[in-house]
Amino acid sequence: MTDPLRHHGDLDALPGLVDLAVNVRAGAPPDWLVERLRAVDLARYPDQAAAVKAVASRHGRSPDEVLLTAGAAEAFVLIARVLAPARAVVVHPQFTEPEGALHDAGIEVQRVTLPAPFTLDIEAVPADADLVLLGNPTNPTSVLHPGSVVRKLCRPGRLVVVDEAFADCVPGEPESLAADPDVLVVRSLTKTWGLAGVRAGYVLGPADVVDRLRRAQPHWPVSSLALEACVACSTQAAVAEATSWAEQLGTGRAELATQLDALPGVSVVADPRASFLLVRAELAGIWDPLRARGFAVRRGDTFPGLDAHWFRVAVRDRATSAAFVRALEETLR
Ligand SMILES: Cc1ncc(COP(=O)(O)O)c(C=O)c1O
Repeated sequence: MTDPLRHHGDLDALPGLVDLAVNVRAGAPPDWLVERLRAVDLARYPDQAAAVKAVASRHGRSPDEVLLTAGAAEAFVLIARVLAPARAVVVHPQFTEPEGALHDAGIEVQRVTLPAPFTLDIEAVPADADLVLLGNPTNPTSVLHPGSVVRKLCRPGRLVVVDEAFADCVPGEPESLAADPDVLVVRSLTKTWGLAGVRAGYVLGPADVVDRLRRAQPHWPVSSLALEACVACSTQAAVAEATSWAEQLGTGRAELATQLDALPGVSVVADPRASFLLVRAELAGIWDPLRARGFAVRRGDTFPGLDAHWFRVAVRDRATSAAFVRALEETLR
C-alpha cells in the first residue's frame, strides 16, 4: 500500500467494480455544465476576473478575499508552504491531504483524534496551536459540526482552516463559514459537480492571508476550464440545483443508513450529512470480500483514528444502494 496519508478512494475503485469508494457525484457533470466547458476558448491564457467576481458574489465576500486554486488540493499545499505554522493541529479523522501537505513542507503536525461519534471537542485542541485544520462536513465521518462551535476555535494568533469540500451536500449550507471574515475556508467544485479532472477550487479568507497565498502561486495557476466552472457553478440557478440535489441525496442517504444499520454487526455513524456514510463492521477488512462481489468501498484503516473495521460508502441511486446492501448482507453471512 502507498503512504496511508496518500491513499484515496480512487485507488480502491478498481476497474470493473461498482464504485462506492470515490465521493464524486456519480457519472458526468450535468449537460449544461459540459456545454459551458465545451465553449471555452482554450487557445487564450486564462483571465480570472469573472471567476473571482462570481465566487465572491456567491459567498458575499469581496474579490480580494477569494483565491482560486487548482482544486482544494492546491490550497492545502499553499497553506502549508506559505503559512509555515509553528504548531499545526489537524483534527482527525479527516481527509489526509492537508496533513500530507504539511509533512511535505517540513512541518510537524499534532493530531487531535476525535473518538466515535466524532463530535468536535474544542478543548482537545492545544491552546498554542497557530493553525488548526478540520473538515466540515467531514470526510470520512460525514459529521457536520455546528459552525458556531468551529468558530470557537478562533483566537488571536491562530488561523482556523475549514475544508468545506462537501459543504454543498447540506441544503442551504447552514453551518458553512464561507462568509466568516476570520476563518480560512477551502471549497471545491469537484464533488457536487463531478469535475475531479478539471481541478477547480478556491479559498475564502482574510485578504492579507489570501494575498500571501496568491504570491506563492505560479502565473495562470487555474485553467480556463476551471475558471468557467467557477463562473457557471456560482450562479443562483446552479446553487439552487446543488440544493435540490442535496435534498435528494438526503433521502437516499437516510434509506441506505437505515438498511445498513439493520444488518447484524454493522453500524453507521449517526446523523450523516455528506454524500457518504462511515460504517463500522465487526468483520475487519470487509472491503476485500466486497470487492469479490463487485463493489468498491473506501477502506477506513488509512485514516488516522480509524482501523480495519471501518469503511466509507458513497450514496448513489436507490438501486445501487439496494444492491450494495444485499452484497454486504451476503458477505456477512
Ligand atoms: C474533504 C476533501 N477535501 C478536499 C478534497 C480534494 O478536492 P479537490 O478535488 O478540489 O482537490 C477531497 C477529495 O477527496 C476531500 O475529500
